[in-house]
Amino acid sequence: MLVPAGRVGEISEDTCVAVGDGTAVVVRVGDTVKAFRNRCLHQDSSLDGGWVRDGVLSCPLHFWRYRVSDGTNIGSTVRLDELEVRITDGEAFVEVPDPPPPRTLREQLLDRARTYDRDASWQTRTERP
Ligand code: FES
Repeated sequence: MLVPAGRVGEISEDTCVAVGDGTAVVVRVGDTVKAFRNRCLHQDSSLDGGWVRDGVLSCPLHFWRYRVSDGTNIGSTVRLDELEVRITDGEAFVEVPDPPPPRTLREQLLDRARTYDRDASWQTRTERP
């Protein structure tokens, strides 16, 4: 699903902004517009409202930092899910995946418990130089 993100020149260079239904965030560095899935790799928080400085996006919750150029977490090799951005007549559009079918809270919690690796999350953090 293609969702509008606004005119390229009007997309903030200081913060990332949620687009569409909040599934994605967009950031701009110069003339380059990037879009990522709106989920931090640390604890799954929204990246919406995160700061962008010198090409680095900081999560607003615990300040994990990601390179806007490719979504790589600084200090590790994990990477944000990048979404396709299309520019048409100065307007940016983001290719957002269709939402998954609705699930019960129980299903969501079980999926989260199966995939969340707390040790790996904290290990990544402590391996930083
Ligand atoms: S949830 Fe993003 S840094 Fe913790």
